Amino acid sequence: MPRFQAPRGTRDLLPAERASLLHLERMALALATRYGYQPIETPLFEQAEVFERGVGQATEVVEKELFRVQAGRGDGDGERWALRPEPTAGICRAYVQHGMQTLPQPVRLTLTGPMFRYDRPQAGRYRQFWQFDVEAIGDPGPAVDAEIIELADRFLRDAGVGETELLLNSIGDAACRPDYVAELVGHYRSHAAELPPAERERLERNPLRLLDSKDPGMAAINATAPRSLDRLCDACAQHFAAVRAHLDALGVRYRLEHRLVRGLDYYTRTAFEFFPRGAEGQQDALGGGGRYDGLIELLGGRPTPGIGFGIGLDRVALALAARGAGGASVEGVPADPVAVVVGADPADTVTRLRIVTELRAAGLTARADLGQRKLARQMEAAARDGAHFAVIGGDELRSGQVIVKDLLAGTQRTVDLPELAHELQRAQAQHRHVPASE
Ligand code: HAM
Repeated sequence: MPRFQAPRGTRDLLPAERASLLHLERMALALATRYGYQPIETPLFEQAEVFERGVGQATEVVEKELFRVQAGRGDGDGERWALRPEPTAGICRAYVQHGMQTLPQPVRLTLTGPMFRYDRPQAGRYRQFWQFDVEAIGDPGPAVDAEIIELADRFLRDAGVGETELLLNSIGDAACRPDYVAELVGHYRSHAAELPPAERERLERNPLRLLDSKDPGMAAINATAPRSLDRLCDACAQHFAAVRAHLDALGVRYRLEHRLVRGLDYYTRTAFEFFPRGAEGQQDALGGGGRYDGLIELLGGRPTPGIGFGIGLDRVALALAARGAGGASVEGVPADPVAVVVGADPADTVTRLRIVTELRAAGLTARADLGQRKLARQMEAAARDGAHFAVIGGDELRSGQVIVKDLLAGTQRTVDLPELAHELQRAQAQHRHVPASE
């Protein structure tokens, strides 16, 4: 076993896996852009308080899973930092910091990148993972709720993860939630003796989370728990009915799930999660999101509504791999070179490097054999590389020419060096129009 390994819960994305992720990242950005969302980038770490306030002190994400960062000798300027466990709090911090409330609302933003949670590693659960995140800030909905949910649904369809199930709930707002939570706590207290110890402890800090407990001992207790959907105030009930009407109009199918409460504290009203059909384990969620109408204010801004989602791209990639569709080719990243430059004089790497550099400057994908080995070995390697053409520098170099060999057709001809890039471009364009079987 090598002495140094990637940290537990993280993994190296080797080229094939990186290509799949890159493909998803590009799809995500292209799709979000079509819906009018603009890319934003925030730092990978923030003041820890952004997450403590935003995501919530009592959430697992902050309480147990935050990667706290210490700079230098650790006695820095008294700031406490943490790697971002999710992007929404940082994006809202940026919204406030840059006065985005003066822009036309809603401000539509998207971000794709790594997140960090000190989670217990298992399949689909990593300590560094990638999210595709979308946020619409400044619109109270409900049409934008449906737009956001449809966007998430569209992405999962376009990615090709197979059938998914959308779970939907409304968890109320500052007007109706306190009474609901009090009623819920009362319900659990009346079952105190039956509560598993971990849940009894959670009851004091984060009672809503008991609802989505996976502890089998909770099933019966939760079956009779009050439902937030039955306790919504008029405004929340109307909002939720309108979200549903918009989703119905768009043909987005969902299942109401009253136990869906989400793991982050900032949510109000609409909450949703996507699962592969037939799987509902906690590490199975492909993505989730909801409304966070109090978050901007918590972070020091004016009261501003918002809604968004995060899709776990690692889980999407896993779902694709499970369907045998993982090895997506990456548009715009040609895997195979058009040409490989080889030479009769093994020692003359200068000429080979000069020629390939010119080809690349002209926009071609090209490689050169820079090993000091015989021409026959160089040609073998060129064929293995999947190159279409070999550019061979031999005696003709003296008269400023090279031989261009078409490795697929087996033909070859002599080309003047100044013409080489143009010639290859022309040949490449021609080949693109010829189906491989011809
Ligand atoms: P979340 O539900 O915590 O929401 O995460 C969103 C998705 O990220 C999950 O559904 C899952 O696919 C993926 N994910 C979470 N943790 C891990 C992990 N340890 N390993 C692999 N994948 C993981 C949020 O983060 C919210 N910021 C979503 C949101 C945006 N709400 C409003 N706007």
